[in-house]
Amino acid sequence: MLRSVKVVKKEGKELVKVTIVGTGFVGSTTAFALLIKGLASEIVLIDKDHRKAEGEAMDLRHGTSLAFPVNVYAGDYEQAAGSDIVIITAGVNQKPGETRIDLVNRNAEIFKKIIPKVAQYCAGAVLLVVANPVDILTYITVKLSGFPPAKVIGSGTLLDSSRFRQALSAHCGVDARNVHAYIIGEHGDTEVPLWSLTNIGGVSIEEFCLLSDKGCTRPEKKKIFDEVKNAGYDIISRKEATYYGIGLALTRIIEAVVRDENSILTVSSLLQGQYGVYDVCLSLPSVVNRNGISRVLELPLVIEERQAFRESAAAMKEVLAKVNL
Ligand code: 2OP
Repeated sequence: MLRSVKVVKKEGKELVKVTIVGTGFVGSTTAFALLIKGLASEIVLIDKDHRKAEGEAMDLRHGTSLAFPVNVYAGDYEQAAGSDIVIITAGVNQKPGETRIDLVNRNAEIFKKIIPKVAQYCAGAVLLVVANPVDILTYITVKLSGFPPAKVIGSGTLLDSSRFRQALSAHCGVDARNVHAYIIGEHGDTEVPLWSLTNIGGVSIEEFCLLSDKGCTRPEKKKIFDEVKNAGYDIISRKEATYYGIGLALTRIIEAVVRDENSILTVSSLLQGQYGVYDVCLSLPSVVNRNGISRVLELPLVIEERQAFRESAAAMKEVLAKVNL
């Protein structure tokens, strides 16, 4: 049974209302993925270019008879009222050669305009932040919305963890869904792979490689992680944007919320002392359910991983110190 975060019932059916702010590639791809999966009964598309949002809504509506009965329409913040989930994708994107952090001031200014309106009309919603630099913008969203921190989720390193699982799957020749592996910290240049917790089919990656005659040396691990860390840059240099991977990552988070799954996902949230880190948003494996983030796990890490995570936090704090809130 599909359970909504706010279980609104109409004629016996539970309804889930999702608003997407920003209908660029990421916003519209996410709407498409939600439609295909039947995760929302109502999708509101908001964009500063209202005609673009209208066009996307029309295009998506034309697929509803072939997928699920979803009411998709372009609206303004008033129409977002009562949303269960608001996804914020609006903002400028990286150009080839730019880092995610390079976008911080431009996107912080955009968030200063958007978040108060979202908070005004969508009190009670789970907010899902996607725009980059996502960890910084998640923090800004916590502060500007005044929402309980558990209700503000950044897509964080869920995409990186998925890229990591796929790269390991290709290396080991097994289904990526059987690969359990996390990237934590910043969604960006200081992210940290948790090799010590990586397992396939219940055994450590080292043991799995040994059993299946695959290499697992330091240089091989470095090559795999570099591919993961640089994936965003590598795609942007070829097609100027990334959207399918992130669209599916967002859909996975929404699924965990609307189905109250208690799924463990590496998403970004306000840390409150994990590994000695406070008052910054970063990704750690977290339990996600209808209330948003129900627990941020503090799993046993080896010293180098802990240290690298703290360095990632320090880098984020340095950026935050320069943001004018
Ligand atoms: C990505 O990693 C650019 O953050 C975006 O795909």
